[in-house]
Amino acid sequence: MNGPDRALEDAVYICLCNGITDRAVQSAIEAGASRPCEVYQGCGCKAQCGSCTPTILSLLRDAREGAPRT
Ligand code: FES
Repeated sequence: MNGPDRALEDAVYICLCNGITDRAVQSAIEAGASRPCEVYQGCGCKAQCGSCTPTILSLLRDAREGAPRT
């Protein structure tokens, strides 16, 4: 499959409440987000249940430490 559906197929949902994918989180981080609230803001939403916050913190930490994305 090619096109936009393929991109969504490969995406991993980080935040189910807001439908935020790993790619959206990475884009927000690359745009300058350095805290979870800034990631949510960069994705045009707010935290709801907060279950995804530890994962977002981990992605922020990886980005700060230059960890390779898998
Ligand atoms: S899973 Fe992200 S706010 Fe609930």
